[in-house]
Amino acid sequence: MFMNFTEGVIVTTLVQIVLLIRCCASTDSIAADQAIKDGEVLVSSGEVFELGFFSPGKSTKRYVGIWYKKDVENRVVWVANRDNPVNDTSGVLSIGTHGNLFVYAKNRSNIPLWSAKSGVSISSLSSEHDPIYKAQLLDTGNFVLVEQQQDSEKVAWQSFDYPTHVQLPFMKLGIDKRTGLNRFLTSWKSEDDPGTGNYTYRIDPDGAPQIVVNKGNIRLWRSGNWNMNRGWWNGKTTVQGGLEIYTTNDENEITIMWDVVNPSIISRIIVMDSSGSIKELIWYQQKQGWNLVWSEPLNKCDSYGWCGAFGRCDPFGTYGLSEFECKCLPGFQPLLEVEWNMKNASSGCVRKHEACRNGERFIKVANMRTPDTSWALVDTNSSWKQCKDECLRNCSCLAYTKLRVGIGCLTWYGNLIDTRDNAQGVGDELYIRVDALEYAQYAKKPKSFLAKKGMLPVLVVSIAMVSSFIFVGCCLCLKRKRKGKQKFIPP
Ligand SMILES: *[C@@H]1O[C@H](CO)[C@@H](O)[C@H](O)[C@H]1NC(C)=O
Ligand SMILES: *[C@@H]1O[C@H](CO)[C@@H](O)[C@H](O)[C@H]1NC(C)=O
Ligand SMILES: *[C@@H]1O[C@H](CO)[C@@H](O)[C@H](O)[C@H]1NC(C)=O
Ligand SMILES: *[C@@H]1O[C@H](CO)[C@@H](O)[C@H](O)[C@H]1NC(C)=O
Ligand SMILES: *[C@@H]1O[C@H](CO)[C@@H](O)[C@H](O)[C@H]1NC(C)=O
Ligand SMILES: *[C@@H]1O[C@H](CO)[C@@H](O)[C@H](O)[C@H]1NC(C)=O
Repeated sequence: MFMNFTEGVIVTTLVQIVLLIRCCASTDSIAADQAIKDGEVLVSSGEVFELGFFSPGKSTKRYVGIWYKKDVENRVVWVANRDNPVNDTSGVLSIGTHGNLFVYAKNRSNIPLWSAKSGVSISSLSSEHDPIYKAQLLDTGNFVLVEQQQDSEKVAWQSFDYPTHVQLPFMKLGIDKRTGLNRFLTSWKSEDDPGTGNYTYRIDPDGAPQIVVNKGNIRLWRSGNWNMNRGWWNGKTTVQGGLEIYTTNDENEITIMWDVVNPSIISRIIVMDSSGSIKELIWYQQKQGWNLVWSEPLNKCDSYGWCGAFGRCDPFGTYGLSEFECKCLPGFQPLLEVEWNMKNASSGCVRKHEACRNGERFIKVANMRTPDTSWALVDTNSSWKQCKDECLRNCSCLAYTKLRVGIGCLTWYGNLIDTRDNAQGVGDELYIRVDALEYAQYAKKPKSFLAKKGMLPVLVVSIAMVSSFIFVGCCLCLKRKRKGKQKFIPP
């Protein structure tokens, strides 16, 4: 059956009208006089992300959150009013008269439950040319509040500066020394409660930068590999699988972020979960949903300081699977032998002999996750030889590690804590100050033993492959659909 010309025109026109209605009603942003009510969503222009009200897990409370639009699991990646939910479906997100974003409940006298700190100054409010505000959800998952002056635009606030429990691609974590802003992840209270939990995943800028997980003020875990042989010091590093890591370590900021440049991957995220685990999840193009590719802590050696001061933790059973995972560093012995024999290393190790001006030398231990670098001194202006000499000269210097050429070295003057063995070929060479007797015994040992561990630091990264965002462009669509019945979970 063929349509005649007139019918064809009418059908075409109807299709156009339907498309037009969808497109005109659609949006990735709200202006100052608009609002997102519970049940409505913003959709980023490329249909990558959605923002709206949701209830996590078994909770009936309502939160404003962001999730990947095509994620059938609805893993929430950011939450606005995480500590102040709406009890019913009367929640609204809008821009207030003073150019700030608010979440409030209509049923509760419009008292704000959450507001973005937009830093709008009072003086700008009384000016003749009041700025115009809009809040826009970008395809990166960043929700930005834009201040539009006569002929300029600036971001007055962005969700990427206030991460919750997830680090998305392009989201910087770390410290901006100019503004004092410190961006880190904080766990949910539980799977059903996105409220601010006790676990944080953050950059510790002291000494040499590293990533740490804390529970309150207690350190639980350290990355130990943000720098050194991986080249993650300052600049861009392309790692296996198509992930580009950007670290900045200069007078202005100490930050880390990544980009995914592998087209077979939709996204890669890091999650600080409510049980204290850090998880790396990857969403492959060909598979719906997320894959857990990496999670820590996994074993005892991942627990911060498991083998005490001057201890060394070996998670691989190099000395025998039934053996205690803790050893003392060369030149050291257990402080409390009895405790140690009961496989409790918390008291750590002490020097066997004094190692100060009595012929001491350095013993190299390869493939190590170096001790906590919070107390390390970073010397970016000396050769490796200078570094060694400097350490030898000062009796309080306990160890040093060579950084890449052109970066220098690290030296430790306090306790050596949380030193652990890495897989063969991964990690750093740690040079430990030992007394002459210890060195003599070490030098006598057969070469095969000394060469037991790998020699070449190789760029092996636990991170699996990642890719760029290539999404089919789409017209801006506002979906006035109910999200209430769907299950939402933290990633
Ligand atoms: C939600 O309910 C609790 C308990 O009744 C109440 O304390 C809280 O103020 C309510 N919050 C809102 C936003 O209505
Ligand atoms: C507001 O509260 C009343 C009862 O206090 C309730 O009947 C109504 O459904 C609520 N509105 C919404 C949108 O939840
Ligand atoms: C966080 O720590 C505090 C103090 O130790 C504790 O009272 C609270 O229950 C903890 N919160 C969670 C979600 O575990
Ligand atoms: C290990 O020994 C310390 C005392 O040095 C003690 O406080 C701790 O409870 C012991 N740990 C275990 C698991 O027994
Ligand atoms: C770096 O070392 C060179 C010579 O080794 C010296 O001239 C220079 O002043 C040093 N720079 C800093 C910042 O210490
Ligand atoms: C050894 O190094 C420490 C830490 O840098 C320093 O405080 C101390 O003055 C140095 N001692 C000597 C003798 O140089």
